[in-house]
Parts: sequence; structure tokens; C-alpha cells
Amino acid sequence: MFVEMHPYIGLIEAIKQRRAARAFKSDRIPEVILQEILELAAQAPSGFNLQPWRFIVVKSQQNKEKLQACAFNQRQISEAPVVLICCGDRRAAEMANITSVIHLGDDQGIMTPSYASYMRSSIPEFFRNHPSFDTMEAWTNRHTMLAVAYMMIVAKSFGVDSSPMEGFVSTQVKQAFQIPDEVDICCLLALGYATEPFKSYGGRFSTNQVCFSETYGEPFEVDG
Ligand SMILES: Cc1cc2nc3c(=O)[nH]c(=O)nc-3n(C[C@H](O)[C@H](O)[C@H](O)COP(=O)(O)O)c2cc1C
Repeated sequence: MFVEMHPYIGLIEAIKQRRAARAFKSDRIPEVILQEILELAAQAPSGFNLQPWRFIVVKSQQNKEKLQACAFNQRQISEAPVVLICCGDRRAAEMANITSVIHLGDDQGIMTPSYASYMRSSIPEFFRNHPSFDTMEAWTNRHTMLAVAYMMIVAKSFGVDSSPMEGFVSTQVKQAFQIPDEVDICCLLALGYATEPFKSYGGRFSTNQVCFSETYGEPFEVDG
């Protein structure tokens, strides 16, 4: 089968056309496209470039059925050819990962000894105080969901539909897929080709309902 590797739906159209699929055909996603979706998702930004996202790629029917049983029996899971268990690993904040990020920067030729030393001292300090989040789970979710958002848009640009899900029982998924305690499950993401019943566009709040000017609650107007 010939696979067109160039995305054929442009960015703005991919954003506009993406809908959370409710049902999937059994058609497989070409492996090169799946790989591209996963690689581009990992281009998402992260604090200190720590990249805490981790994805379990579930393709076997048996495992999809096991996952569906932990997810209120949502039909998308056993129908979609691929379901990702999208996780965030709290251990990304530990020194072993900080060292890996320093090595990555070295490989790119952008790491200086002073920045490496800044990372070794200031990142642990940041996680001791964590002024911008209350729990490590908030931190892992903050990052992983960005990668998931990239993934849904990239997938759509290749004509691949997606279904993000928070309807699952975390403790059951952790047990069934041997997910360590330090790893949070942020969502499930089914990927494939949507079929009926298609989900209709539910609308979005307008910019002036969700944006404020300068302080919270102050009306925002686009400068004319
Ligand atoms: C984090 C997250 C969790 C969601 N969980 C579920 C879910 O468990 N089951 C489901 O059918 N849809 C789920 N959805 C899909 C939403 O219902 C859907 O995105 C929303 O209604 C807007 O529709 P649209 O994405 O098609 O524009 C979820 C979406 C997000 C972003």
C-alpha cells in the first residue's frame, strides 16, 4: 500500500476538522504514519525540557479489551486499531533524567558547563518548592496533555481520527498494564479512522468569554 507521508490536511483545517471520534473502522493505521504521529508528539515543549510523557501503545485485541474493561466499557477502545495509554512519569524530575536531558543538549551542541550546572542545582530546587503546581500529578498532566494535543492535530493532518478519554479507572489500568506508582495516567487516546455515529461539532465559547484583559475577569476586546 502506498502511504502519502506528507500531511495532507493543513494545520488550520486539521484543528477545525478534528472531532472526538465515537466509533472506529477496523482499518489499520500504516506503521509509518503511527510512527510520525508519535515522533511529532514528542516535539511538544516541556519545563526544563524534562519530557515526562510516556505512551503505552496498545494494539492487541486482547489488551484493548482488557483496557476497555477498565474504561467503563467505552466502545472506541476495542474498535480503534491503536489505543495509547498516555502517562506522565514523575521520575522525570529526578537527577537521572536531568542528566539525560543534559546529554541531549550536548548531542545538539547547545549545552554549556554553566547551564548543565544550573540544571543540576535549580531543577531539584524547583521541585522541592514547586511554586507553580500543588501536586506532581498536576505537573505530569500539564506536560503529557500538551503532547497529546500535538498528537491529535498531527493525526488529523494525516487523516487519522482520535478519541481522548478520561473515562477510565486509573487504579485498574495501572494494575492491568504494570504501570509503576510514580507514573500517572493522564488520558487514553484511541487512534484510527472514524465511522458512524460521527460526533457533531458542539461549539466553543467565544474569545471574549475565555480571555481577559490584564486581570482575571476584565473584559478582553481584540484591538481594532
Ligand atoms: C481530557 C479529555 C477527556 C475526555 N474523555 C472522554 C471520554 O472518556 N469519553 C468520551 O466519549 N469522550 C471524551 N472526551 C471527548 C469530549 O467529550 C470532546 O472532546 C468534547 O465533547 C468536544 O468535542 P470535540 O472534541 O469533538 O470537539 C474527552 C476529551 C478530553 C479532552
